[in-house]
Amino acid sequence: MPEEATKTRDGGGGVATAEDTLTVTDNRTGETYEVEITDGTVKAMDFRQVKVDEDDFGLMAYDPAFTNTAACRSEITYIDGENGILQHRGYSIEDLTEHSSYLEAAYLLIHGELPTQEQLDEWTHEITIHTYVHENIKRFMEGFRHDAHPMGMLLSTVGALSTFYPGAKDINDDEERHMAAVRLIAKVPTLAAFAYRHSLGLPYNYPDNDLTYPENFLSMMFRMTELKYEPDDRLSRALDVLWILHADHEQNCSTNAVRGVGSSQVDPYSAVAAGVAALYGPLHGGANEAVLRMLSRIEKKENIPDFLEGVKEGNERLMGFGHRVYKNYDPRARIIKEHVDEVFEVTGTNPKLDLAIELEKRALDDDYFSSRKLYPNVDFYSGLIYEALSLPTEMFTVMFAIPRTSGWVAQWLEMIDDKEQKIARPRQVYTGERDREYVAIDERS
Ligand code: CMC
Repeated sequence: MPEEATKTRDGGGGVATAEDTLTVTDNRTGETYEVEITDGTVKAMDFRQVKVDEDDFGLMAYDPAFTNTAACRSEITYIDGENGILQHRGYSIEDLTEHSSYLEAAYLLIHGELPTQEQLDEWTHEITIHTYVHENIKRFMEGFRHDAHPMGMLLSTVGALSTFYPGAKDINDDEERHMAAVRLIAKVPTLAAFAYRHSLGLPYNYPDNDLTYPENFLSMMFRMTELKYEPDDRLSRALDVLWILHADHEQNCSTNAVRGVGSSQVDPYSAVAAGVAALYGPLHGGANEAVLRMLSRIEKKENIPDFLEGVKEGNERLMGFGHRVYKNYDPRARIIKEHVDEVFEVTGTNPKLDLAIELEKRALDDDYFSSRKLYPNVDFYSGLIYEALSLPTEMFTVMFAIPRTSGWVAQWLEMIDDKEQKIARPRQVYTGERDREYVAIDERS
């Protein structure tokens, strides 16, 4: 029996129930159990003692999709979904986007504290000098079909990085861990830009170490014949803000994938590749791509009512709306919306913005969405900025993966040091047949 749990017999003398405990009666047997409540949670293992008889395996918690199960303790990101609050290491997303750069926020996520100027300079230098990738990585990417989806390219190439840094397998070595963190944050933008250039059939641009992190990314993406790319400050700042907003979001699908795969003690490149794969899906990072496709399909404001009717009838979802945790306006969507205009000052306006604003307004006024607490999420407006930057929709999720890399790495590092963690291995409720008679192939109907 787990230490925290005590069992009392129904009808017995009764056990004084401490305040932070839960008393459960199993109506199958009449037995009563008392389990400890810590930080608003009970341990699923405490229920294993609940059995109908000695041969019974014991009670399990059934929670497909982890809707009400905490799988770790974490000090990285705090979300209050009811009130639309997001904080990293205790700092509000509003303060971070106003005062920090993405690299500073990445340092905060990974190290737990904001850096001093000296620490930030050193961190920036380290990231900058690791932006180059091995020439064979470049050749590896050249092997993809001309129309390969850049997320497919990114996820396989991040996985391939593990073969270039075999030392990273030693996940208990502090220096190896640090180098993996630096290399991933430094190289993912390079891989992302190479994937983009590949899709256009353009030569890949090598990193320019004179530029800042977002400027260098713009240069690797867009430099053509000019010797030196000169990015517009407003665009690189907007990109930096977008990247801070996307850096981490606690136990989302891709972070859970990184932690789940990483719990096998595989190297961090392989674990992060699993995160990229999870992010690829349309219900996660792929939603920003889906939003733009949806807006293109709706085409004009007059079509919004019909579209919303279709959503309400269950034909499709309003992409960029709804969130497992936020039951209020996603604070990231609010900040992005504020930056849309700055980007459009440089790029010219995107007519889809008016359509998106009208769609948001109509949805928020509709009982279907308000009663289900469905509000715009981070993906509702981010795609409009990416489109204004002339990025093809296939690149949108890649733009999400670049900053999320620091979150994945921070979460992976936290998991590795967490003594409570073991290899992730959920249970199942078996519902299939058992003990069947094997039928030879020529006797099968
Ligand atoms: N459009 C229409 N109905 C919706 C939507 C939506 N976007 N989202 C949820 N609902 C409905 C859903 O049909 C259900 O209704 P009912 O109770 O009548 O069955 C109710 O709202 C609850 O939905 P759920 O599917 O149980 O909620 P969830 O927590 O499992 O799903 C979600 C969260 C984000 C997957 C979902 O809201 C969704 O599919 N949104 C669209 C895709 C999207 O924008 N994803 C980006 C998420 S934010 C960035 C990221 O994390 O990657």
